[in-house]
Amino acid sequence: MREELVSLLERLSTAPGPPGMEDRVRRLIAQELRGHVDGLEVDALGNLIAVKKGSRSVRIMLDAHMDEVALMVRSLRADGFLEIVPLGGLDPAVLLAQRVVVHARSGDIPGVLGAKPRHVMTEEELKRRPKFEELYVDVGARSREELEALGVRPGDFVTFDVPFRRFGDAAIGKAFDDRMGCLVAVEVLKELPEDSPTVVAAFTVQEEQGLRGAGVAAYRINPDAAFALEGTIADDTPGVPEGKRVTILGGGPAIRVMDRSMLTQRLVLEHMIRVAEEAGVMYQLQLSPRSGTDAGRIHLTREGIPTGVVSVPVRYIHTPSSLALIPDVEETVRYVIQLLGSIRSAEQFRPSI
Ligand code: CO
Repeated sequence: MREELVSLLERLSTAPGPPGMEDRVRRLIAQELRGHVDGLEVDALGNLIAVKKGSRSVRIMLDAHMDEVALMVRSLRADGFLEIVPLGGLDPAVLLAQRVVVHARSGDIPGVLGAKPRHVMTEEELKRRPKFEELYVDVGARSREELEALGVRPGDFVTFDVPFRRFGDAAIGKAFDDRMGCLVAVEVLKELPEDSPTVVAAFTVQEEQGLRGAGVAAYRINPDAAFALEGTIADDTPGVPEGKRVTILGGGPAIRVMDRSMLTQRLVLEHMIRVAEEAGVMYQLQLSPRSGTDAGRIHLTREGIPTGVVSVPVRYIHTPSSLALIPDVEETVRYVIQLLGSIRSAEQFRPSI
């Protein structure tokens, strides 16, 4: 069981899926879900919608975004280097010397984000952080003509080339934001008991570029309630005082109280906490005033949709190498199944007068 989960995490993590090029992740998830769901569809933006019919009339949406922070080729320089733009929130300082793949028409081309050796840095360069405009991708080409002959052109996607590693409980890899959410959604769909609400899972596109897929998916699904699943910020690391921490590793699923995109409706929040406590799930409350999720878009769809967020804690999100603990993933899957099983009516989250 655990080994299957880790194997799926590895395949999800290593699949490239920049915003706007989620195809490979979508194919992988669809393959994984065949035989476990009652319907699979793709909408015009590329969202994958999976339906699992339950014996109850209530309809719940699960959301997990397929895309990851990445780069795009902006221009081909005459000297053979590639200028780039970020897709999603990336800090240039974590990009230096990273290996990447340029997804060209002709196929995938390995490259590196160039970094000067300190021997040739100026005093000023040694002191400050790099700027995005100074970064470039090097695939070993010596001229623009050589790049063109390789099939590279402006608009090509660039993703991180990072192996997946697992040692004991720990997993290290790229794109845990939000392949963790995708993993939890797939596992929940596989394990959901018959006596459950109908669950419609949306594996969405372009979250990192501004929550773009989630809105149209929520409009289409029109659920009674929704839960976004995430790989979220764990900052229990040196230099972050305890009271300022967003989440910690090993603390179990994070139930989100608020972030920049949503204040969790109180009936939803209280219910989520009650379910965790009754099921004996180890959980943590998350307040993250500077980040947002697909839930921010979902809860504002149509006439308003009661929405919550459940996350697996992940260190170093939005960098090429994130770290998470497998027991946190397992506890999150167990919790989401309990949470779905606890919902009996479309009215239970409606504030009263
Ligand atoms: Co993100």
